Amino acid sequence: MATLSELTQQFQRLAAEEADAIRSAADSAQLEEVRRGVFGRKGRLSTLMRGMGDLISEERPLAGKAANDVKEALLAAIEERAAQIRKEELHAALEAETLDITLPGIRPRIGSLHPLTQTLREIEDIFTAMGFTIELGPDIEDDYHNFGALNFPEDHPSRDMQDTIYLHSDLLLRTHTSPVQIRTMMARKPPLAIIAPGKVYRCDTPDATHSPTFHQVEGFMVDTDIRFSDLRGVLQAFIHRIFGPGVAYRMRPHFFPFTEPSAEVDVLFERRNPGGALVREPVEILGAGMIHPKVLENCGIDPERYTGFAFGMGVERITMIRHGINDLGPFFDNDVRFLRQFD
Ligand code: DAH
Repeated sequence: MATLSELTQQFQRLAAEEADAIRSAADSAQLEEVRRGVFGRKGRLSTLMRGMGDLISEERPLAGKAANDVKEALLAAIEERAAQIRKEELHAALEAETLDITLPGIRPRIGSLHPLTQTLREIEDIFTAMGFTIELGPDIEDDYHNFGALNFPEDHPSRDMQDTIYLHSDLLLRTHTSPVQIRTMMARKPPLAIIAPGKVYRCDTPDATHSPTFHQVEGFMVDTDIRFSDLRGVLQAFIHRIFGPGVAYRMRPHFFPFTEPSAEVDVLFERRNPGGALVREPVEILGAGMIHPKVLENCGIDPERYTGFAFGMGVERITMIRHGINDLGPFFDNDVRFLRQFD
């Protein structure tokens, strides 16, 4: 049985010892342990307070005040240490999570435009810079727009130049972009300066130079005094922009039913032959000509008053030449190892 003075001493000792323990608690878990050791049901303070029951009633309030002082002092000390610990823990967490912005970054791989799209956009840029505007036509055409109005006579062997995919006897997948000439000239009157990019389809077995689907860009200009020299000037400007200034080319007579006269254009690439001599290798890039009077007439344009030129080129062909690719297949395979080379 403890006396008042013993009890008071014990309170003081408890206060001093536990204040030390609170100050040296390293983290919130240790602090909680100390708190429970004092204030828990079997804690030191609770145990001491139970001893107060043995005192005489005059002494009890004194002991009670001492107990209360200890209690408040320790609670305040715990609160203070807890605040410190929160600060330390936050600081440590921030320290651990710091970003090192000097580390090299991990660059996300973003896609890029398909090489055919890149070529197509360049072609469009070159012609729109010269004042051409862009028109589109349907992939499914009728016989008249694809052939008849373009002066391909019915049952004439010239239709065999294009191995057509028919949907039924009158509907087909367009074999070229030339029908956009017809659609535009039927809907609008000269002056016209148009390019018409798009997909075309032919009944071809795929190999290095054939694909049943490929891309063309049609172009044409119609006005009161368009001459063959205008065609040549426009094509020369195009060739020099897409293949490089000063690249040589030639126009060779050819036949198309919808142009008269007609030509094919070859770009002449310089190369050294095995003997070391400089040779010019012709590579065909497009067909062109003056729009046939019958075609203008079919579209309700007076061929006595208006003349025009037209041309049509293959986007795959031009892309292959520019990048030195000798097989069409990879354009349609979607193999990223091929496509990445054109990022
Ligand atoms: N339409 C032709 C083809 O696909 C290409 C062509 C040749 C278009 C001459 C033209 C042209 O506009 O004048 O084979």
